[in-house]
Amino acid sequence: MAATPWLLLLCLAAAGGGVLQARAQPDSKGFISIDCGLQGDTGRTDNVTKLAYVPDNGEYTDDAGTCHNISAVYITPFMHRSWYNVRSFAAGARNCYTLRSLVPGLKYLVRASFMYGNYDGLNRPPGFDLHVGVNYWHPVKISRPDEAKYVEVIVVVPDDFVQICLINTGAGTPFISGLSLRPLKKTMYPQVTTAQGLVLLNRFNFGPTKNELIRYPDDQYDRLWFPWVNPVLWTEMSTTRKVQNMANDFFEVPPAVLQTAITPWNNGSQIQFSWDPQPQPNDPSPAYFAIMHFTELQLLPSNAMREFYINLNGELWHRDAVTPEYLYSRPSFNTFAARKSQYNITINATARSTLPPIINALEVFSVLPTTNLGTDVGDVSAIMEIRAKYQVRTNWIGDPCGPGTVMVWDSLTCSYPIASPPRITRVDLSSRSLNGGISISFANLKVVQYLNLSNNNLVGAVPDALSGLTSLTVLDLSGNQISGSIPYGLLIKVHDGSLDLRYDNIQDLCTNGSSCQPVKRKSKLAMYIAIPAVVMVMIIVAGVIFCFMRRGRKGSMNNSANPRRELMTSYASGTDVYMDNSLQLENRRFTYEDLQVITNNFQKVLGQGGFGKVYNGFLEDATQVAVKLLSHSSIQGVNEFLAEAQILTRIHHMNLVSLIGYCKDGEHMALIYEYMSEGTLQEHIEGTKYNGGCLPWKQRLRIALESAQGLEYLHKGCNPPLIHRDVKATNILLNTRMEARIADFGLSKAFNGGNDHVSTEKVVGTPGYVDPEYHATMQLTAKSDVYSFGVVLLELVTGKPAILREPAPISIIQWARQRMARGNIDSVVDARMCGMYDINSVWKVVEIALKCSAYSSTQRPTMTNVVVQLQECIELEEGPLVEDTNNDFYMGDDGDNLNLSYDVYVTNQSTDMNLNKTTFKMEHNVKRVASMPTGPVAR
Ligand SMILES: *[C@@H]1O[C@H](CO)[C@@H](O)[C@H](O)[C@H]1NC(C)=O
Ligand SMILES: *[C@@H]1O[C@H](CO)[C@@H](O)[C@H](O)[C@H]1NC(C)=O
Ligand SMILES: *[C@@H]1O[C@H](CO)[C@@H](O)[C@H](O)[C@H]1NC(C)=O
Ligand SMILES: *[C@@H]1O[C@H](CO)[C@@H](O)[C@H](O)[C@H]1NC(C)=O
Ligand SMILES: *[C@@H]1O[C@H](CO)[C@@H](O)[C@H](O)[C@H]1NC(C)=O
Ligand SMILES: *[C@@H]1O[C@H](CO)[C@@H](O)[C@H](O)[C@H]1NC(C)=O
Repeated sequence: MAATPWLLLLCLAAAGGGVLQARAQPDSKGFISIDCGLQGDTGRTDNVTKLAYVPDNGEYTDDAGTCHNISAVYITPFMHRSWYNVRSFAAGARNCYTLRSLVPGLKYLVRASFMYGNYDGLNRPPGFDLHVGVNYWHPVKISRPDEAKYVEVIVVVPDDFVQICLINTGAGTPFISGLSLRPLKKTMYPQVTTAQGLVLLNRFNFGPTKNELIRYPDDQYDRLWFPWVNPVLWTEMSTTRKVQNMANDFFEVPPAVLQTAITPWNNGSQIQFSWDPQPQPNDPSPAYFAIMHFTELQLLPSNAMREFYINLNGELWHRDAVTPEYLYSRPSFNTFAARKSQYNITINATARSTLPPIINALEVFSVLPTTNLGTDVGDVSAIMEIRAKYQVRTNWIGDPCGPGTVMVWDSLTCSYPIASPPRITRVDLSSRSLNGGISISFANLKVVQYLNLSNNNLVGAVPDALSGLTSLTVLDLSGNQISGSIPYGLLIKVHDGSLDLRYDNIQDLCTNGSSCQPVKRKSKLAMYIAIPAVVMVMIIVAGVIFCFMRRGRKGSMNNSANPRRELMTSYASGTDVYMDNSLQLENRRFTYEDLQVITNNFQKVLGQGGFGKVYNGFLEDATQVAVKLLSHSSIQGVNEFLAEAQILTRIHHMNLVSLIGYCKDGEHMALIYEYMSEGTLQEHIEGTKYNGGCLPWKQRLRIALESAQGLEYLHKGCNPPLIHRDVKATNILLNTRMEARIADFGLSKAFNGGNDHVSTEKVVGTPGYVDPEYHATMQLTAKSDVYSFGVVLLELVTGKPAILREPAPISIIQWARQRMARGNIDSVVDARMCGMYDINSVWKVVEIALKCSAYSSTQRPTMTNVVVQLQECIELEEGPLVEDTNNDFYMGDDGDNLNLSYDVYVTNQSTDMNLNKTTFKMEHNVKRVASMPTGPVAR
């Protein structure tokens, strides 16, 4: 039974006599031999080499091009079969063969052959270009219909495939007769590197005994050694004895080639040959390598000597004279490419030589720069799968990103880093009639920023894997028949403003009709979904948490570092929490029906959070509120949601966003916050949302102070103290009076106060704001918030984002430090403040900011200290707000007695916008911290 297939195969091989199955992979020798334009599924075995040639339908060319036979007129009796047919590519600017299953980093010889043979009956031999991968290889200019042309290159193939592309240059339809690939040893042709290949000009076998090509199997690498004889000038020498290569020979010239040589007729004369450089479109005078192979074929008597020099253009090329070794090959070659206007090589005997020079073989190559990098392999395989799945035609052939920007596939945009492969950054496949599900391969385009799949016929769920695309800023799925939920990870991004997600007209997003009906009916962005299984988990967790909260509010919070609780308190809430601090209500519990009334059936969406939408609402007394409805099934969302609820029910401060109530009604969970009408600080700094962002300096200072007070309360005022962990401009909200409130306690962590640190398993936070020391040590302290706050301060002063993009990404800290080091404060200050500020107070805030953002946490001030200093800044700007007292109270470090002041904060839930007087009295006279040594003189 098992033997049958073998037998069958053997029979086939014997009977077929060269009829072999086509396959797209290298054969056992690693060879790929394609007979381009050969019809049928079966290949043929070459009469001379016995190599199997495969037809090129299907796999190699993605079905591009058409097969033709050359005109019978040009078929001669001894013509090799491989010239009989061609494949031509009338359509498309670029058509490619993809040779697969290669060994990345290995050297390969690639040879293409061309004979026009008037296959198209037009009698117009064309011209076109060849590319190997994304590098220009060679022009092909056919001059006569019967011209047989070989083009060969030796290159390092960086990936497990290589593409050979024919480029239509407008000089006729590209075609090809044959394409071969042969692996070489890594040590061979040392001139070939990843940055440089060799294009063959000529490869000669001198003085052959038969006027025939030597190739496979004589040459195990199937190089073509062309015979060169010139009986007028040279006499031939040969041996039948075995000729060997030296160990570790770089070239492994086959013995059949080395067994013959030429020598001049007259002892005294020289061997000469020359060539002119062949101008290339990208290099009018390419550099060349010449590799000469010498083997002594005569056993010389002891008094005889054969010794010669090699000269290039009349000058010694190799310093040392060459004496060929008997029956051993010896190559002589230049290691640095020569660039000349002409190459005259003369081999002349030395004065003491008794015998004339000889030469056995010669190879001449021009240098091919292979510095263009192909598109990142991960991106290539992803886009190839996308191409296959959606059958994208158009010009999706060859390398997706190049070479150059001319050849980029349509619908794609790439980035071209200087020393690394191009990456695909934008994919616009809108209105391309794509059918089926959303390919998971989109998630393998790891740096894609823009993905537009709108107006297709896509169905099914949005793959969760898309959440892993960290650079994705735009995802347009509108106009499809997508169903299921939007993955949590994507919602998080939408929530933090990093992703513009569009998905209107999505049907069937609700699996639980009743819970999301109102949303669905009212909103185009219908996406609220509740998955029962997860809801169950949610309810259980909720139960546990709420019980815990009850106990917690009675005061037993000392076990707050308990890991199990940590799990439940690690959550992320919204930048979209809006509230009004005039509300003094106890935390109220609402039913889902209450929420429906409050929000008028969830009519108006205020914002999109990571795990739900935030709706506008009004309480019975017409107080405006923001209702955050937990809408997603992610466990993490539930945890963070609950954690925020827990924190907000126990901490109260005028500079922290406050919670009015919550809803836990069956599967429905919601948090009800004070309404923050003016949105995030970020929006004001950017100036995008609120009329040009001309935020006056005084207002910026106030916001800074208020935010600092909020953080100070977290660090010192509440018990147990909290580290916010995600301080940033988008987490500072503003109410109608432009009062600042810290929001988003989803990542907050309790700690034991003082300088204690908390070890964390992973660093959380937002790029640009994350404390580098925390990042390095995983040890979280309150000083990590100080660092982030320093970044916020710099944003306030400069009006710039935490990470500046132009020209290269640079953190705002570095950027400011560089400028401040030159004492150049004006170059740092946001021009939109129009000079309306006191230079001293701005200078001081920058100083504070840079101290806050010191690398070492020990060098950073505490939030308490920051608050004090910001108050001094406000005085500089406005003059003292409060009468000076003689209370010489030093707050330069975390004195425990400071806790006294926190009671003031805690109880301060007043709507009065004036800062608490007690606070000021205490902190007004605090000693100044020394100013920066690099500061300006004019202070
Ligand atoms: C190749 O060999 C086959 C038989 O082995 C023969 O019929 C055919 O004529 C040969 N072709 C050439 C071009 O020599
Ligand atoms: C080419 O010639 C072969 C026979 O040699 C024939 O089978 C094939 O159909 C021809 N192809 C074309 C495209 O005419
Ligand atoms: C090369 O040789 C030719 C003929 O001998 C001569 O005319 C030419 O000047 C030489 N070129 C160089 C660069 O030496
Ligand atoms: C061989 O060529 C070199 C350089 O052209 C020259 O210096 C030398 O004299 C020549 N030797 C003989 C024996 O002609
Ligand atoms: C020339 O070659 C002959 C043998 O072919 C040899 O006897 C003679 O010595 C050689 N003369 C010179 C000048 O090398
Ligand atoms: C996606 O493509 C469509 C059609 O070209 C266009 O109208 C829409 O604005 C694009 N979406 C985004 C987010 O750019």
